[in-house]
Amino acid sequence: MYSFSMKILGIETSCDETGVAIYDTEQGLLAHTLYSQIDLHALYGGVVPELASRNHIQKLLPLVRECLTQAGVTETDIAGIAYTYAPGLIGALMIGAAFAKSLAYAWKIPTIPVHHMEGHLLAPFLEDQKPKLPFVALLVSGGHTQLLEVKAIGDYTLLGETLDDAAGEAFDKVAKLLGLPYPGGKYLAKLAETGTAKFKLPLPLANKRDSLDFSFSGLKTATRLLIERELNNETETTKADIAASFETVMIQSLTQKAVRALKSTGHNTLVISGGVSANQRLRAKLAEVALKERFEIFYPRLDFCTDNGAMIALAGAYNFKTAQTQSLNIEVKARAMLYPSR
Ligand code: KG4
Ligand code: ZN
Repeated sequence: MYSFSMKILGIETSCDETGVAIYDTEQGLLAHTLYSQIDLHALYGGVVPELASRNHIQKLLPLVRECLTQAGVTETDIAGIAYTYAPGLIGALMIGAAFAKSLAYAWKIPTIPVHHMEGHLLAPFLEDQKPKLPFVALLVSGGHTQLLEVKAIGDYTLLGETLDDAAGEAFDKVAKLLGLPYPGGKYLAKLAETGTAKFKLPLPLANKRDSLDFSFSGLKTATRLLIERELNNETETTKADIAASFETVMIQSLTQKAVRALKSTGHNTLVISGGVSANQRLRAKLAEVALKERFEIFYPRLDFCTDNGAMIALAGAYNFKTAQTQSLNIEVKARAMLYPSR
């Protein structure tokens, strides 16, 4: 990071959260504001891209104003504007990028394009207890499930990723089958608290012991078949037991691969980020394993596990060297890799 003080405004609009924050390279996070569109999309059982874009337009400016007030700064104090350029919903990304470019043009400051997953990856650095490099990162969100080796900030190697559904996506799909609201991850976790993991579901890729890849579609299908089988017996208790059974296998798979990645790289620090890292049973299980296997775990605070502007502002500060002063071109990508391909 930089030894001089610099304030970066961060803007996140890749999906259904409008996040804005101001990060100072010396003082840390000064302010953050967030508008979640969950209620808007819940009606449709999933994110409606056009509605997401329109809502980002409405929310961005008020959130920026609120953030400046919260931080007690004015636009002349801001050195650059970081925004999510990929991956995500293309329309939503374009709103954030166009907004960031226009504001930066008016304020005569540069913009810094940030990869959304690098934002998640660096989110634990917003905390007082920062992870020690090098480390293994487990990124578990609604769109991604990846294990990365992080030798330095900006030096990322992919160790493994999901071959099909992302962990959050599987949580959401199973939650939907259980009749829970969208996005269902946290509702499924809540329901699982009252259940027992009494149903046996298959551990993904059980016969590929050395693989660091994930696969959740088989587990999802097995859970769907279980729900269909138990349909006549669908009491709240059965639903809770199914939720607990699914969550147990999901956690077992994530934990097993994370430990395997630590062993194969020889690192003893694990960073976990992304929406699913808010899961309390996952945290408890990892804490238990960390004690036994002697590694340290770093998470972002709960508010910064899911999408937010703070992680984008922070990643922007780390990437200030890539700041664009001239270009007004808007380059966003629905898909983009954070690491060199395997
Ligand atoms: O990182 P995120 O906010 O958005 C993406 O970049 O995808 O992650 C959202 C995902 C959703 O699938 C949501 O259901 C899941 O994170 N999630 C959880 C929990 N809280 C959020 N999954 C399991 N347990 C939770 N407590
Ligand atoms: Zn995310």
